Amino acid sequence: MIPVDLSGKVALVTGVADDVGFAWHIAKYLQAAGADLILASHPRVVSIVERFLNRDKSAESRVLPYGRGELKVKALLGCDVACDTLADIPAAQREEKGYEGDVSIAGCMAKVRELSPHVDILIHSVAFSPEIAKPLPEVSRQGYLTAQSVSSYSLTALYHAAEPLMRGRNGSVVGLSYLASVRAVPFYGGGMSSAKAALEADARQLAWFAGEHGHRVNIVSAGPYASRAARSIGNIGKMIDDTAVKSPLRRPIDPDDVAKTVLYLCSELSTNVTGATLYVDAGYHAMGAW
Ligand SMILES: NC(=O)c1ccc[n+]([C@@H]2O[C@H](COP(=O)([O-])OP(=O)(O)OC[C@H]3O[C@@H](n4cnc5c(N)ncnc54)[C@H](O)[C@@H]3O)[C@@H](O)[C@H]2O)c1
Repeated sequence: MIPVDLSGKVALVTGVADDVGFAWHIAKYLQAAGADLILASHPRVVSIVERFLNRDKSAESRVLPYGRGELKVKALLGCDVACDTLADIPAAQREEKGYEGDVSIAGCMAKVRELSPHVDILIHSVAFSPEIAKPLPEVSRQGYLTAQSVSSYSLTALYHAAEPLMRGRNGSVVGLSYLASVRAVPFYGGGMSSAKAALEADARQLAWFAGEHGHRVNIVSAGPYASRAARSIGNIGKMIDDTAVKSPLRRPIDPDDVAKTVLYLCSELSTNVTGATLYVDAGYHAMGAW
């Protein structure tokens, strides 16, 4: 048996909003390998995630793979990754959004520090564009910049805030991207293609700086999958169908496949892998016109 053993490790997982998205599946695989979990979800979805973690109706969703029991988190925190500090969220906006306490990245990391002296794994599974339904030529400057702020810069901001807790732990950071970073995918609007290109470039840059401390930074580029975020992309159904038919493996994307690759990137099995973008898309990225 090859050991994939994350016991004694703490994983900070962003981007859980329900039991469908990639982050939920990633959290389950990390915990099945023994990691303790701290979830940092958008403040608006925290109460929703609480239900998925506790209600009887979701018991089946919480079953861990490999017969490793049931998903149980050390803590569920609110974190708006668009905000580095509380000062970035005007009081009126906090009230309007119903934010309680310091839900900035700095505030979230201070709570993480109270819960654990160290973090070993940081998962970035967050993306948002307010204009996702608009094709690129129609996207406003503000929409474009928001997509970059939430979907790309947040990787750097989270890494910067988490790194002191990762010191001496040979940490692993993994972000989620999509093929539109390197190929034209007209349906993928709202400036998200540029945001994913920036995310991948930033992961390579961060890999250099993180490497000095023994940490690794990698990206998993997943094929299209009908998560809550993806359902707002125009024609996601066609993107999913195309992948299932036109990829070398001729099958759709299963979130467990994405989670398994993330687990690999967080494990001993990938000790010397960093700055990489691994495709989990049934091989679709390798195809040319046909
Ligand atoms: N579903 C796909 O087809 C697909 C394909 C490739 C890559 N991805 C990427 O996978 C990652 C996860 O997406 P998903 O498809 O699982 O959808 P999802 O809707 O489950 O996850 C997106 C998450 O981003 C969070 N989020 C948005 N704005 C935020 C903010 N300001 N602060 C904190 N959290 C915020 C949402 O609350 C949600 O939890 C994203 O980076 C996405 O781009 C998705």
